[in-house]
Amino acid sequence: MKPELLTKEALSAFAVSHRAAFEAELKTLVEIPSVSADPAHAKDVRRCAEAAVSLFERHGGKAEILETEGNPLIHGWFGDDAALPTITVYNHMDVQPANEPEWTADPFVFTNDNGTYRGRGSTDDKGPAVTAFFGALAAREAGVPLNLHFLWELEEEIGSPSFEGGLRAHKARLTTDAIVVSDTVWITRGKPSTPAGLRGLKGFRLTLETADHDLHSGVVGGAARNPLSELITLVGAMFDGNTGEVKIPDFYQEVVPPSEAELASWKASGFTVAQFKQDHMIKGLRTEDAMELLTRVWGKPTMEVHGVVGGYTGPGIKSAVPARAEVKISCRLVPDMNETMVMERVRAFVRQHNPDVEVHEEHGLAPFKGHVSGPYAEAIRDAYQFAFGAPCSFTREGGSIGAVKTMEDQLGCEVYFLGLSLPEHGYHAPNENYDWEQASGGIVAFARYFQTVSGFRK
Ligand code: BES
Ligand code: MN
Ligand code: MN
Repeated sequence: MKPELLTKEALSAFAVSHRAAFEAELKTLVEIPSVSADPAHAKDVRRCAEAAVSLFERHGGKAEILETEGNPLIHGWFGDDAALPTITVYNHMDVQPANEPEWTADPFVFTNDNGTYRGRGSTDDKGPAVTAFFGALAAREAGVPLNLHFLWELEEEIGSPSFEGGLRAHKARLTTDAIVVSDTVWITRGKPSTPAGLRGLKGFRLTLETADHDLHSGVVGGAARNPLSELITLVGAMFDGNTGEVKIPDFYQEVVPPSEAELASWKASGFTVAQFKQDHMIKGLRTEDAMELLTRVWGKPTMEVHGVVGGYTGPGIKSAVPARAEVKISCRLVPDMNETMVMERVRAFVRQHNPDVEVHEEHGLAPFKGHVSGPYAEAIRDAYQFAFGAPCSFTREGGSIGAVKTMEDQLGCEVYFLGLSLPEHGYHAPNENYDWEQASGGIVAFARYFQTVSGFRK
């Protein structure tokens, strides 16, 4: 090991001298529209896997495409010495669709505006992936004695449907001592945070058909059932749309409330309601109290209506009674909830209130409870402090990353988070971006993290 290459100054200099290479690699990846939700982009998803393999190979690493029943996994690595510890970095290379009208430029043309990188996937999650990659290059150059592995998914944004099968099939090649995920958001710039928990997600659709085709509301209205109204009534009984409170019996039964220590850490995280509103350009909230808000987003489950399909949606009014309707719903889940229990209760509730309504389940993601102490957590704390000169707080995330719980279960190791995205980077939003401040600090943070964990014996 060459410790002189691992000082803050040397690592920062490494980042600066690799800036052009970093930007070129990120540009290449952002310009491949690897939209997992859209079958029309299947070829781009494959092209993205190939570009990722090329990235590893061009920088002296090895890589392979691991097939699954869906999109492939990318496994890249530097070093494969059984005597050394192994760390695996998880990121995803697939992106959200980008058809929002507010994009000011083509979402799949990378723009670099003085160190602000714009394009779909720039922050979620290609930028953090390339950042960790350059952190690994820095650690390699300094001779850090560690096997550095990367696992990049191409189905994260559709709920990781093939991930578990993929891990089962390729487990032997993916053995690792610990995993670090870089796919989460800080509270605000200058205030690193690392989640010790993620919410899970369970989507379902309610459908109802009460006639063969749409009917004249003057001829049958009053006597005919209206599937749209019945679904609205049902949803209104399931949860209070104003407060968000779910009224399905026992819905909250397994919820473990945040501990006193967690609440104290959330309180110290630098979160403010005003900043939250500004970051998300949000007009109204269900609460103005910071701790109540955080508990709602990180510590409690939700029920959310995403879409209502049915009836007439053209200009003016058309006086028809629709024949069928659908409501698209999902629940965010927290530890120790599980999707089976949730769906059992939803189904029982629907059966009791409107037995004609059909419940269609989507693929679910388990909630995740992480760690706030121990050597790997300390290494995260140290890496942020070292690179960004600020302490990190252990928080939670309201979002979901399906792969996390699956990696913990299938690979039998702990999962930690070294996220780099900021609220204003705009996850899933038009004009999504990432920036050099986070990237350069991130390269230093990852290199430092790799150095620390290389000292952990198995
Ligand atoms: N990187 C996010 C997860 C995330 C969201 C972390 C918010 C921190 C804060 C991930 O790419 C994501 O968007 N997950 C989706 C999964 C879904 C589409 C199956 C989510 O949480 O909605
Ligand atoms: Mn992501
Ligand atoms: Mn995402």
